[in-house]
Amino acid sequence: MTPNLHGELKWWQSGIIYQIYPRSYQDTDGDGIGDLRGITQRLPYIASLGVQAVWLSPIFKSPMRDFGYDVADYCDIDPLFGTLEQFDALVAEAHRLGLKVMLDYVPNHSSSDHAWFQEALEGKDSARRDWYVWRDPAPDGGLPNNWKSFFGGPAWTLDEKSGQYYLHQFLPTQPDLNWRNPAVRQAMFDVLRFWMRRGVDGFRVDVIWLLAEDTRFLDEPVNPDAEREVIGGQVEHSTLIHIYTQDQPETHEYIREMRRVIDEFSDRMMVGEIYLPLDKLLPYAGTPDAPMVHLPFNFHLILLPWQAGTVRQFADDYDAASLRAGAWPNWVLGNHDQHRFKTRVGAAQYRVAQTLLLTLRGTPTVYYGDEIGMQNVPIPLERMVDPAGLQQPDSPAAGRDPERTPMQWDASPNAGFSAAGVETWLPVADDFMAVNVEAQQADPLSDLNYFRALTRLRETHPALIGGTYESLDSGHEDVFLFRRQQGRESVLVALNFGSESRPLSVLNGRTLLSSLNDQPPADMPLRPDEARVVLNS
Ligand code: NOJ
Ligand code: MG
Repeated sequence: MTPNLHGELKWWQSGIIYQIYPRSYQDTDGDGIGDLRGITQRLPYIASLGVQAVWLSPIFKSPMRDFGYDVADYCDIDPLFGTLEQFDALVAEAHRLGLKVMLDYVPNHSSSDHAWFQEALEGKDSARRDWYVWRDPAPDGGLPNNWKSFFGGPAWTLDEKSGQYYLHQFLPTQPDLNWRNPAVRQAMFDVLRFWMRRGVDGFRVDVIWLLAEDTRFLDEPVNPDAEREVIGGQVEHSTLIHIYTQDQPETHEYIREMRRVIDEFSDRMMVGEIYLPLDKLLPYAGTPDAPMVHLPFNFHLILLPWQAGTVRQFADDYDAASLRAGAWPNWVLGNHDQHRFKTRVGAAQYRVAQTLLLTLRGTPTVYYGDEIGMQNVPIPLERMVDPAGLQQPDSPAAGRDPERTPMQWDASPNAGFSAAGVETWLPVADDFMAVNVEAQQADPLSDLNYFRALTRLRETHPALIGGTYESLDSGHEDVFLFRRQQGRESVLVALNFGSESRPLSVLNGRTLLSSLNDQPPADMPLRPDEARVVLNS
């Protein structure tokens, strides 16, 4: 299969998606929490990065028990963040700058404060009762089955008034919507239409692989590999194999329906949050006749050990499988649920990882602050706010606060995120005096300018965007080498995952970029922790 030429690709194929966690981007009203006006003010900076789209984590009305992933009104902005008018202004400014705007759509569950759930609570006869998932207690009076919440504890909470349990795959205050009910689907599809009419270009769809549950409500089997398979510190949740609560055939059906709604508008897209192995992940792209999500998020770079051979093997498998499936690939190193990648791979490997993300075939998603090398921020117990961490005190990796701290703009108090003297919702990192946008703008050798050099490279060398991918044997266990090729242009990417200098005979050509900030001659060995991009025509 010949990939499209650069010019024929859609924006979500050729461009980079930049994720903003709105609480932490820019506070303009002095409450220590970021807001829409703040994001709008920072759009020129975002455009200067060379990215194509901004995705905002949820900004909808919410009691914020899961920081916005508990939506109380899908068609309004939470006052903490601003107003619908301010949102319209944000979209207009983004479009003026050539940026697309993506929202976070949370269809699997609402907040328990949502009017729909409040109505459902009125009793078994309520018109909205069936909008959520209810079960009678087990014959012994206990829980309906063994299903578990991602954040620990049972996935069921008893509604004392009616004597029935309702399902929640996350917090008890995040009841699962019943996607089997066509009225729920229609209401949730109207939400998409509401935002597309306002000019929104795309959606990141929260836990899209969880929409439907098996209607027999059987116990899930115990996972013998639980310890190996913990994702994001969710120790208790990983003790079961989720054959009845995840990846159900009906979910595929609902996503095809959802896609038809997206396609009512021109040039819109959705990317689905899906934590599944490759063979189960790629089917979420659908088929040409029955498309599903434009991009099924590929989180494997986050989950795999950071080793050249492992990463190469995965990249080979994924690229081949994507071609077979007719799916456009995508890559992620960080998000608001995962520890900062610089902390994960180690500072020495930071640019190797960044180079990989931006040169592999497929759409990269970049988490805010990763472009300046923000790290996990240790959060003292008394400042912890993430329910996933607070509910699982024995599982230190479960807390997501360390990767959600305020953006580091400059060396002034509160790093320019919030006015001096304001207590920010999460502490600002200690390293903000050195690691901040202003300082790095001024330094041609900074991480920020390295990021920009990479995005410019993508623009000047279309092989890096639309070209084929092929890995090469480097002759060294710790070096991952691949070629991107389009027409007569051939770009080689050499990544040294280790701390030894490695001679590479294939590096003949012109060095376009080295992570070590120089222009080494072609015959210079790949140095420890170096990433090098070479034009090899
Ligand atoms: C996935 C989101 O990314 C995460 O932040 C959230 O807690 C859960 N879904 C529940 O919506
Ligand atoms: Mg604010």
